[in-house]
Amino acid sequence: MVTDDLSGYAVTMTAGDIVDLLRIGVRPGARRSGVASRLLDELLVDTEDASRMLLEVSVTNAEAVGFYVARQFSVIDVRPHYYRDGSEALVMCRWLPGAARAQTATAHD
Ligand SMILES: CC(C)(COP(=O)(O)OP(=O)(O)OC[C@H]1O[C@@H](n2cnc3c(N)ncnc32)[C@H](O)[C@@H]1OP(=O)(O)O)[C@@H](O)C(=O)NCCC(=O)NCCS
Repeated sequence: MVTDDLSGYAVTMTAGDIVDLLRIGVRPGARRSGVASRLLDELLVDTEDASRMLLEVSVTNAEAVGFYVARQFSVIDVRPHYYRDGSEALVMCRWLPGAARAQTATAHD
C-alpha cells in the first residue's frame, strides 16, 4: 500500500489470522504529519478477520518504536542478535477485533 503522493508505503503479509507488518516507511520530509498512521488505519480496515498484527523492529530504532507504541503495539518478545549489527529485535503485537470474536466463539462452543 502506498499513499497518494508517494510520501509513504507499507507492506504486509497475511497468513491465517496473523498479519505481519513487514515494512512501513515515510519520506523524511513528511514524517510526524500522520502519514504512517493513515497507512496503518487503511491496513486495519482490511484485517477484520485477523486476530493480531505482528512486526519486528530494532531496539535501536527509537522513532519506529515510538510510532508503534503510540499506535497500540506492545512488546511480546525479544530476539537477541537479530540484526547484522548485533542489535536485538523487539517483537511487537497489536491485537485486532478478530481476536475478541474468536474468544467469544470459543466461550460459546
Ligand atoms: C516510523 C515511521 C514510519 C513513522 O511515520 P510517521 O508518518 O512520521 O508517523 P506519524 O506521523 O503517523 O506518527 C504517529 C505518532 O507516532 C509517534 N511517533 C512518530 N514518530 C515518532 C518519533 N520519531 N519519536 C517518537 N514518537 C514518534 C508519535 O506519537 C506520533 O504522534 P504525534 O506526531 O502526534 O506525536 C517513520 O518515522 C519512518 O519512516 N521511519 C523510517 C523507516 C522505519 O524505521 N520504519 C519502521 C521499520 S520497522
